[in-house]
Amino acid sequence: MTAVTRILPGDDASAIAEAAAAIRRGEPVAFPTETVYGLGADARDAEAVARVFALKDRPRFDPIIVHLADPADVPLYAVDADASDPRVARLAARFWPGPLTLVLRKRDVIPGIVTAGLDTVALRVPAHPVALALIRAVEAPVAAPSANPFGRVSPTRAEHVARQLAGRVRIVLDGGPCRVGVESTVVLLAGGRAALLRPGGLPAEAVEAEIGQLERIGDEAPEATSLAPGRQASHYAPGAPLALVDPWPSGPGVADRHGDAVRSDDGALSALPGALSALPGERLGLLAADDPGRDAALAAGGPFAVVEVLAPDGDPTTTAARLFDALHRLDGAGLDRIVAQPVAEVGLGRAVMDRLRRAARAG
Ligand code: TXA
Ligand code: MG
Repeated sequence: MTAVTRILPGDDASAIAEAAAAIRRGEPVAFPTETVYGLGADARDAEAVARVFALKDRPRFDPIIVHLADPADVPLYAVDADASDPRVARLAARFWPGPLTLVLRKRDVIPGIVTAGLDTVALRVPAHPVALALIRAVEAPVAAPSANPFGRVSPTRAEHVARQLAGRVRIVLDGGPCRVGVESTVVLLAGGRAALLRPGGLPAEAVEAEIGQLERIGDEAPEATSLAPGRQASHYAPGAPLALVDPWPSGPGVADRHGDAVRSDDGALSALPGALSALPGERLGLLAADDPGRDAALAAGGPFAVVEVLAPDGDPTTTAARLFDALHRLDGAGLDRIVAQPVAEVGLGRAVMDRLRRAARAG
């Protein structure tokens, strides 16, 4: 499809009505949530959902989250045994609307394309007034992945969507920059289990404080592909290769050590010797964790054509909110290479490091 992409104000009732009418006709619409922008279709309409997959070039094995306006609707889409799990009620009461997705065994009303053939469905009540108004106006559950082409950086502003999906989507509802900035935390509660499938905008510790310890399903776990099929698929790749320099060399002598090979714990990401220095004519970008990190990088390497600081004081909430915006800016700067600093893995820092590691692997 080639279409003119329009950005419409999300706080305008006629824009909501127009977007809802498009979704009811089976046409995907981009809309804001508090985490990232989504690309929505009526979750009961298999053909409309197929258009979402096509428009994003998303592989069919990666299931999509279904967005509801009201936690009371969970029993319409999940089987009784899971919908009546007291942990669901507890998490819904505490964190919905919000950046939490619950994976429960599905009812037949949700077509298999939404769940990529799994017998579970991911449900979330988003905390953005525009998303809630849209879902209510559609009068249907809204299936929506993040509104980026498959494998690329998730959008946290309407302009990100308009640029990435130009000509592919007709309507982008503008709800301003996303407050949380990383995708929802995905928790499996099907069949009595409790497992963290994706770290995200709600710290896992907050979920555990309500319902106890969560199983952690690592990427290498045998169950990872069947329980969390999207994990291998999501890459968050910016246009230029990104190296996550972890651990970041610090302390006295950093200027002499910046040329060392740097290896991360899992060995998957190793910065090349000289990672912090630009080659002659090379446009090198820096994604700094905080102001002191930026200063250390400027002292140890460069020159950097573009510098993005995630949070001047390293605050994890600000870091998460700024991550994709910073990656989009680096993406638009015509860089040859990006070096990124690790952030502290506390609270939302875990979700940020998850995205940075995947972005680095994609490069
Ligand atoms: O914050 C968010 O979650 C955003 C906004 C738009 O709500 N959505 C989002 O969607 O990040 P997406 O498609 O980019 O990521 C959804 C993740 C994928 O990793 C997918 O594999 C997983 O949720 N998922 C969806 N349904 C699932 C299911 N039934 N079982 C396991 N994982 C599932
Ligand atoms: Mg995504």
